[in-house]
Amino acid sequence: MITNLQDTVTLHNGVKMPKFGLGVYKVEDGSEVINSIKYAVKAGYRAIDTAAFYKNEDGVGQAIKEIDIPREDLFITTKVWNDNQGYEETLAAFEKSLKKLNLDYVDLYLVHWPVKGKYKETWKALEKIYREGRAKAIGVCNFHIHHLEDLLEEAEICPMVNQVELHPYLSQVELRAYCASKDIKVEAWSPLGRGRLLDDSKLAELAKKHNKTVAQIILRWDLQSDIITIPKSTKEHRIIENATIYDFELTDADMQVIDSLNRNERTGADPDNFDF
Ligand code: A2P
Repeated sequence: MITNLQDTVTLHNGVKMPKFGLGVYKVEDGSEVINSIKYAVKAGYRAIDTAAFYKNEDGVGQAIKEIDIPREDLFITTKVWNDNQGYEETLAAFEKSLKKLNLDYVDLYLVHWPVKGKYKETWKALEKIYREGRAKAIGVCNFHIHHLEDLLEEAEICPMVNQVELHPYLSQVELRAYCASKDIKVEAWSPLGRGRLLDDSKLAELAKKHNKTVAQIILRWDLQSDIITIPKSTKEHRIIENATIYDFELTDADMQVIDSLNRNERTGADPDNFDF
């Protein structure tokens, strides 16, 4: 049942994660990120997705301090950046992130990219952090099936989440099926294709039919597809718009129309071929 934006999904370790949250990639540290989080929390969001790489963890921490929501009602995700991968390096990077966030635990700590030759050591550090209770859940980002298979050969703890680029032009059907078979929840970054999908004519037709915006159609498709989603916006009206998706339902036929839009088209790097 999809009822409101505080709905959660239960990860394989029992932790409940909101299915919907605010992404803060490319949101400036300081007032921009603080205000975005305040707008989001006011609109009912409880999950915030940041990363060391976004360079706004300080602002996220400041926002958490300034809003009047108990820590246990929030779900805070951050990620270890590529330069800091490796066992000791990751442990040190985690300390820095926690300090910037001004927290004593995060809800979810993620490996940001599958850095060749490093991600298994990085994962060992995440397992340690998880066992110490300083991350309530751990996972990866941008892992293809083969990266997950490779990781699982040695991992003691299976990732709880795989956060990947995912939107109607890159619907990741095979990866979603594989993750479902391992009880790894899939989370979409750039669910709106960084804004690129907003002009799609088929999505526009569905938007008209439901008297919604294209962004709302896409985000509702995520929810009905059991995909955790974290659209980014800094604008209050869009933060509210993106969350106003609990008052309508896409039919099976609508879902099929959206499913048929896949073009395997990325806006970001391919996890098999990135140079950062
Ligand atoms: P802005 O921050 O100016 O609102 P994604 O999450 O797929 O990466 O997309 C984020 C991009 O889409 C940002 O550029 C954001 O810009 C824009 N955006 C977010 N929500 C909406 C919306 N409801 N309508 C139009 N653009 C949006």
